[in-house]
Amino acid sequence: MRLDRALVPVLAWLALPAAAAPPPTTQPEDLDAKRQRWNRVYQADEPEFNTAPNAFLKRCLSRIEGRGRALDLAMGQGRNALLLARHGYETTGIDISNEGLSQARAAAEKAGLSLHTVQADVFAFDYGRERWDLISVIYFNPAKPILPTLKGAVKPGGYIVIEGFGPRKVGGPPDDSKFRRNELLEVFSDWHVLEYQDGDFPADWGGEPTAHVVWLLARRPTAER
Ligand SMILES: C[S@@+](CC[C@H](N)C(=O)[O-])C[C@H]1O[C@@H](n2cnc3c(N)ncnc32)[C@H](O)[C@@H]1O
Repeated sequence: MRLDRALVPVLAWLALPAAAAPPPTTQPEDLDAKRQRWNRVYQADEPEFNTAPNAFLKRCLSRIEGRGRALDLAMGQGRNALLLARHGYETTGIDISNEGLSQARAAAEKAGLSLHTVQADVFAFDYGRERWDLISVIYFNPAKPILPTLKGAVKPGGYIVIEGFGPRKVGGPPDDSKFRRNELLEVFSDWHVLEYQDGDFPADWGGEPTAHVVWLLARRPTAER
């Protein structure tokens, strides 16, 4: 029997033991396509998203001291990272879009704020353990599988702020990434949940008058509490 040469690498991959399977990170070609798509979003003359800081994050910050290191995950063009920096956090923002990052850096410079930017895939980034005083995940539902990692990366006594879509939102992020009823409460059941809402609200990212939005502010317990 003659073996089609094109099948050789496929068969070799199938023969690999399970331990050698590729890690569940985003594949480079997906990332590149994503980067280009998001670059186009940020390059548009008329932004199709809200460029003002996220209202929930703003409200959370009004009840948090704002000291230490903050990480804004998938920060986009920096609307929320700049808010964190303005509130007193030593802020890092990560995103795959070089255009988003460069707009964020320009805005920080103009405002006289210090902002550390990292071009990285959030699924491959090293968050460390107990490194951050606050992590914000604003309109990045695909982060759901890495929430346990993010929990471990927040210092005891530190905070996580999440806002994203629920399943009644039509379109937007993949359906399986939308936050199911009480899902975030389950994930953060061992933290102090300071605020949780699940309902139809004006959507902060795309500006729809109402969409299914879920938000959470939670604090990691300190050892003694
Ligand atoms: C809906 S936008 C939200 C941006 C920002 N959080 C905000 O609220 O303005 C989603 C962002 O995720 C970024 N992104 C998508 N996939 C990513 C990945 N794998 N790693 C890092 N950033 C990613 C995009 O470039 C985009 O800036």
